[in-house]
Amino acid sequence: MALALLVVMVISMVMKQLSASSCAPSHPQEKFCRADFVLRGRVLEEELTYFPETDMVSEKTYTVSVSKKGHIFKGELTCGNVTIITSGSDITSGVTMETEKEYVISGIALPDGTLLTTSCEFVMPYSMVNSHQRRGLRFKYNQGCPCKMRRCYGDDCTMMSDWSIDGDTCLWRHTNVFNPNDCYSKYTYCLNNTLGVCGWKSNRMFEDCVLDDSTRLTMTGEEIRV
Ligand SMILES: *[C@@H]1O[C@H](CO)[C@@H](O)[C@H](O)[C@H]1NC(C)=O
Ligand SMILES: *[C@@H]1O[C@H](CO)[C@@H](O)[C@H](O)[C@H]1NC(C)=O
Repeated sequence: MALALLVVMVISMVMKQLSASSCAPSHPQEKFCRADFVLRGRVLEEELTYFPETDMVSEKTYTVSVSKKGHIFKGELTCGNVTIITSGSDITSGVTMETEKEYVISGIALPDGTLLTTSCEFVMPYSMVNSHQRRGLRFKYNQGCPCKMRRCYGDDCTMMSDWSIDGDTCLWRHTNVFNPNDCYSKYTYCLNNTLGVCGWKSNRMFEDCVLDDSTRLTMTGEEIRV
């Protein structure tokens, strides 16, 4: 009994670390909900900090200009220049952004006001954020925060129904596990209805997208890595 418990604890610790380092795919809504801040801003400057006496980048500091209040989707921030820090390397989940380009950036706010972001956050050039996602950022993702999402893979998906037993979870049938911007991420929100039950709200692009994805899956017999 005690051994079984220990094994479960160790496994869950390993899983936690795995998902922290490899950054399990998550929906923009999930990223929005767990973030301390979400903003749209233009990257003005990138400043690199190096480990002492090496040419290895330890940290990147971005100066990001947020031009209006409406571009702060979440968090206690003011417009103007904000400073966002990320780790210096991909391996430690650092992100790279181009100067002069506009991005959506989510992240963590430390108690002293420092803003951090990682590759696990919602970081995407604004030009790649589609209209459905833009609406999500403005209204819908926040509305859906009481809801959870759960991923299913392969045969698991056929065993589970669309609506979870406890009603607070949307089932994310991974059409393409390796694509961080898959059909669900692009065209769905997970929202509660008037009875408080959570379900996907997708736009009409979603069905086509899934059909397209699954056709490609069956043709090659394996999942396509994007
Ligand atoms: C924002 O940062 C840029 C680049 O560092 C600087 O030129 C500009 O004056 C700053 N703007 C404000 C309002 O501080
Ligand atoms: C749906 O979620 C919103 C946001 O939390 C909440 O205000 C509302 O009461 C919920 N609706 C129902 C019917 O539970």
